[in-house]
Amino acid sequence: MKIFEELESEVQSYARAFPRVFHRAQGAHLFDEDGNKYIDFLAGAGTLNYGHNNPVFKQKLVEYIMEDGITHGLDLHTKAKAAFMESFNEHILKPRKLQYMMQFTGPTGTNAVEAALKLARNVTGRENIVSFTNGFHGCSLGALSVTGNSHHRGAAGTSLGAGVSTVPFDGYLGDGIETTEYLDKVLSDSSSGVDLPAAVIVETVQGEGGINAASFGWLQNLEAVCKKHKVLLIVDDIQAGCGRTGTFFSFEGAGITPDIVTMSKSLSGYGLPFAVVLMKPELDEWKPGEHNGTFRGNNLAFVTAKAAIDTFWQDDAFEKEIKRKGDYIHQRTQSIVDQYGEGNFILQGRGMMRGINCVSGELAGKITKKCFQNGLMIETSGADDQVVKFLCPLIIPDEDLKEGIDILENAIREICAKEDDMPEAKSYFDENYDIAV
Ligand SMILES: Cc1ncc(COP(=O)(O)O)c(C=O)c1O
Repeated sequence: MKIFEELESEVQSYARAFPRVFHRAQGAHLFDEDGNKYIDFLAGAGTLNYGHNNPVFKQKLVEYIMEDGITHGLDLHTKAKAAFMESFNEHILKPRKLQYMMQFTGPTGTNAVEAALKLARNVTGRENIVSFTNGFHGCSLGALSVTGNSHHRGAAGTSLGAGVSTVPFDGYLGDGIETTEYLDKVLSDSSSGVDLPAAVIVETVQGEGGINAASFGWLQNLEAVCKKHKVLLIVDDIQAGCGRTGTFFSFEGAGITPDIVTMSKSLSGYGLPFAVVLMKPELDEWKPGEHNGTFRGNNLAFVTAKAAIDTFWQDDAFEKEIKRKGDYIHQRTQSIVDQYGEGNFILQGRGMMRGINCVSGELAGKITKKCFQNGLMIETSGADDQVVKFLCPLIIPDEDLKEGIDILENAIREICAKEDDMPEAKSYFDENYDIAV
C-alpha cells in the first residue's frame, strides 16, 4: 500500500472504502493480491452489469487485438464501429421502435452529459436547463452545474449557478405531492423567475443521489410537461441503463421517448471507457467537430459492446432474469426492513438497482465496512451516504447473490445489536428463504 500513500492523490474515494490491492476479477468476484475473494455488489459503480471479464467478450477482444484491429481511430469509420452500430440498431433500437442518431463523445459519462447539454442549448437557442434535486450527472463543470451534491459542486471552485434551475424530484416533497405540477406551473408563469429551459435532464432512478426511483407516472407527467412547453427531455441513462432497472433503457417501463439519451458505464460491457449520446434525428444539428475529442469512440469498446448486445439482448430472456433476481433482492431486503421497523430502514430502487436507506450515513458506513470485512464489496450513496447501494452484476449467480445478501443481513444484525438507538435484532436469520432464485 506504500506506493499509494506516497504518490496517489488524496482525491481517491473507493480505494478508501476498500483498502486492499486488487489483482484479478471474474464474474461477480474480485480477488486481492493475497488471493482473498470478494463478492462484488459494487460492479464498478454500475459499469460491470455483465460482470468482470466475461469470457465471450474477452475472446472477441483478444481476437481483435491479435488481428491488429484499429485501437485508436479518432472518429474514423472503422469496421468495429460499423458492427457495433448495426447490432445496436438491430437489437436495441429497432425492437423498441426508437430512432436515434448516435454521437460518440469522449469516453466518460460526464462528457456525454456535456455534449447533451450543449446540443439542447444550441438546438433550442435557450440557455436554461432544468435539473432535479439529488441528481448526479458527472464532475466536469457543465455536468456539475446540473448535479445536486454540494460536496462535488464545492470542488468546482467557480460559480455553477448560471443557466440551471433545480426543481424537486419525484417524492422530494413527500408522498402525494406531484412535483411535475410545480414544474408545469413555473414554466407556465412568465413571472415565476424560471426561464423557459432548453431541456430537462433526469435520471429515472437516481444512482449517486440515493437510489431514488421516479414512478412511471411521474416520468410520464414529466414528458407531458416537456412536450407542452416544447422543452427537450434528456434521460441520463448512464447508471440506470443497460438493463440495470430491468429493461435495456430505464425509461422503457414508463413508455416515454426522450429526445436525448446519454449512455456510458456498462455500454461497453467490459468496463472499457465508452460513452454515447442518442438524439432524435431532427436534433442532430451538430457542425463537424463542434464537440471534438481525441478519444471519441473506443474501438476496443465497440468490439465488447457488440458482444454484450449479441449475447444478452437478442430476446427478452435476460430481462426476465433481471426481474427474477430484482424481486429476490426486494424480498430479502424487505424482510430486513420489516424487522427493524418503519423509519429505521427504507427500501428504494427498481430492478437490480436497489438500496436500503439507513437514514444515518454513519450507520450505513458501519454496515458496508463490516460487509467488506466479511468478503462483500458494497457502497453507499445519497447526500449523506445514508443508502446502502445494491449494484451487483446482473449476471451474478444465484448462490453468490444469496451469499452477498446473507453477509449484509448479518452485518446489519451485528451493527444494530450494538446500536443503543436501534431495536434489538430478532434472530430470523435461520429462516429458510424458499423463493426460487
Ligand atoms: C447518472 C450519471 N451520469 C453521469 C455520470 C458520470 O459518469 P463518469 O463518471 O463516467 O463521468 C454518472 C457517474 O456515476 C452517473 O451515475
